[in-house]
Amino acid sequence: MAHKSVTKFQQLKDNNEKIALLTAYDYSTAQVLDKAEIDAILVGDSLAMVALGYENTYNITINEMLIFVKAVSRGAANSFIIGDMPFLSYNLSIEQGLENAGKMIKAGANAVKLEGCNEHILTLVRRCVESGIPVLGHLGFTPQLMNTIGGYKIQGKSSDKIKTILESAKKLQEAGCFGIVLELMPADSAKYITENLEIPTIGIGAGVGCSGQIVVTDDILGKFTDFTPKFVKKYKNLHDEVLAGVQAYKREVKEEIFPSEKESFELNQEEKLKLTN
Ligand code: KIV
Repeated sequence: MAHKSVTKFQQLKDNNEKIALLTAYDYSTAQVLDKAEIDAILVGDSLAMVALGYENTYNITINEMLIFVKAVSRGAANSFIIGDMPFLSYNLSIEQGLENAGKMIKAGANAVKLEGCNEHILTLVRRCVESGIPVLGHLGFTPQLMNTIGGYKIQGKSSDKIKTILESAKKLQEAGCFGIVLELMPADSAKYITENLEIPTIGIGAGVGCSGQIVVTDDILGKFTDFTPKFVKKYKNLHDEVLAGVQAYKREVKEEIFPSEKESFELNQEEKLKLTN
C-alpha cells in the first residue's frame, strides 16, 4: 500500500472513498492507528489540552510538538503523518514558518497543517510546497484564533460567511494545499464548500458532506473527559475502563493479591535455606 504519498488524498477523493484521519500524540497510540491503516495521522496541537492539560492550544511550542511528532513517527512507520504547526510558529515570517515546517519533516512528519488564510499564509503554503513540504489547510473554527473569534463558535452560518470561507479555501487550493480541514460548521455549509473545491476537505464537526473526517482519538475512545463536543461519537469508554483497572490494581496491592507467584521470581531452595541459617 502506498502509505506515504500525499497523492493518496486526491485519489481517495476522486474514487469517492471517504478519508479517515485520527490524531495521535504518543508511540503506542500511533502503533494502533498504524495497524488499523488509518488514512493519515495528525499530531494535532490539541495535544496541548489532551496530553498536557493546558486550557487551550496557545502554550505549546514547536520544540515540544517535535517530541510528539518523533514519538508518533516511531510508532507509525507506515502511516502518513501530519504535524500541526503550533501558535506563532509560522506567523512571524516566511523564513520562520518554512524553517519550523522543515523541522516537522525532519522529525518524521510527511506534511504540516496551518490554520487560517491571509497573504502571509498563502505565501508560506507556496514556499512550503515548492520546498517539498505538503500542506493541509484549516478553515472554519481555527482554535489558534480563538481570542479573535470569541470562543468555540460555529462558523459559516450565513451564505455570505460560507462564500467567504469558500473563497479562502480556493486560495489555499490555488497556493498548493493538498486538502483543507473544515472545523465546526453546519453540514450544509461544509458540503457546499466541498462540492466547490477540487482538493479534499476533512471535516471535524462539519457533517458528512466533507471528503473525509478527523476527530481527536482520545475523544472518540472516551479517554479525555474534560469536555466532549457535540460532534464527538464515543466508540469506547477508556476513562472508565482505565479507572476500573487502576482501582483493581490498588485493591490487590493492599490485599496482597498482587503480585502473586505468577508475577514473581523464585529464589532457589539452597539460597533460601542460607538465609534462614
Ligand atoms: O489539533 C488538532 O487535533 C486539530 C484537529 C483538526 C483535530 O487541529
